[in-house]
Amino acid sequence: MNEKTLRLLNDAKGHNTTQNRNSIRFYLRYTLRIIQGPVVTNSTFMDIMHSLYRAAKPLIFKLSPDNAHAVFLFMGEIMGSNPLTRALIASLYEYHGADISKTVNGVTYQTPVLLSAGFDSDGRLTRILRHLSFGGEEIGSITAYPCEGNPLPRMTRLIRNKSMIVYKGLRNNGVDALITRLKKTPHTPGFVIGISIARTNRKESCTNTEEGINDFALSFQKLNDANIGDYYTINISCPNAFAGEAFTSPEPLTKLLTRLETIPCTKPIYLKMPIHLPTPEFDALLRIADKFRIHGVICGNLNKNYNELDFPEDAPKEFRGGLSGKPCFLRSNALIRYTREHFGDRFTIIGTGGILSPEDAMEKFRSGADIVQMISGMIFTSPSLMKQICKKYAEERPMFLPKK
Ligand SMILES: Cc1cc2nc3c(=O)[nH]c(=O)nc-3n(C[C@H](O)[C@H](O)[C@H](O)COP(=O)(O)O)c2cc1C
Repeated sequence: MNEKTLRLLNDAKGHNTTQNRNSIRFYLRYTLRIIQGPVVTNSTFMDIMHSLYRAAKPLIFKLSPDNAHAVFLFMGEIMGSNPLTRALIASLYEYHGADISKTVNGVTYQTPVLLSAGFDSDGRLTRILRHLSFGGEEIGSITAYPCEGNPLPRMTRLIRNKSMIVYKGLRNNGVDALITRLKKTPHTPGFVIGISIARTNRKESCTNTEEGINDFALSFQKLNDANIGDYYTINISCPNAFAGEAFTSPEPLTKLLTRLETIPCTKPIYLKMPIHLPTPEFDALLRIADKFRIHGVICGNLNKNYNELDFPEDAPKEFRGGLSGKPCFLRSNALIRYTREHFGDRFTIIGTGGILSPEDAMEKFRSGADIVQMISGMIFTSPSLMKQICKKYAEERPMFLPKK
């Protein structure tokens, strides 16, 4: 047994005692490390995984995004339910370096990288994502009643733009189904579960502001009563819902937050912000949030501005839905910076939008984010991206840098 293998064995043992006592996983990791042997270092191994994904991507992209998403959820759920497949995924994709855990509003994240809302709307992946180096995920957005979502296609890839047109329309099984599922799913230690709440995307819930507030309040009340989830997000900015963004203006937002404040809650509450508003309007929403029990903001949701695509001609003529990925990057960074510069530490800031490389994630932290979230990078770059971000974070420990 050479020196490197011994070191890996010791590393793995150390990790085992502190975090994971699953012996099957330990021996699988150990065996895989021996197979990799002295010639394949950890970073070249990551490069190989990266290249393998690049090679497989054209095949995956042959499926429609809606089908690829369904396959990923199915596989993720199956792999999460079995200790062997969990160990296999962990041996490939889980970060095991220096401690990068972070406690924010009393919630401890093992890594500061989360899966953003919308990918796992019904909470099916809670047992596998930790092994992809995610410190947590935001489930949802869920709604008070089950919701079919918009007609297909709900997603369209714009490959050259590194973006997806999202027209999902809050498709989910509703808050009751989520509570039932999470109650019976074994909890992964140290994995944070945030739950994003939106208004049900159906005619009956979208007649007026009062109806919308009742809808939000019902989900919020049920989640608190069931004591499910580590934090909650109020998603006021879904760009493709039946009622539009009814709560992204001051008066209705004030009414909504006033009502939610009457419901006892011991968890942090975040507000998912729109990114297309002009700065004064964005600022007005922050000033309202400041008056209420809102611990932080997520900057932000999908971009509605198609002019910000690198290749706008690739988008279908009849635009439907918001843009994820690269077109969100600069706007989200600017809003994160604005919030940090003007509100100091008043708000926790969760930075989301267009993280396609470890450097992109560092830029979010340097702009003022406490934690980052992502979806598109995992699809367009590689599922090894989260582990790479964790490594870079451990090396650089990026912090907010005020502009000179
Ligand atoms: C398929 C898909 C569905 C989404 N659904 C939701 C949602 O239900 N609620 C929400 O707050 N954001 C939703 N979003 C927005 C993401 O949470 C995130 O803010 C956005 O995609 C930017 O991050 P990214 O560039 O890393 O993808 C969705 C995004 C995608 C790609």
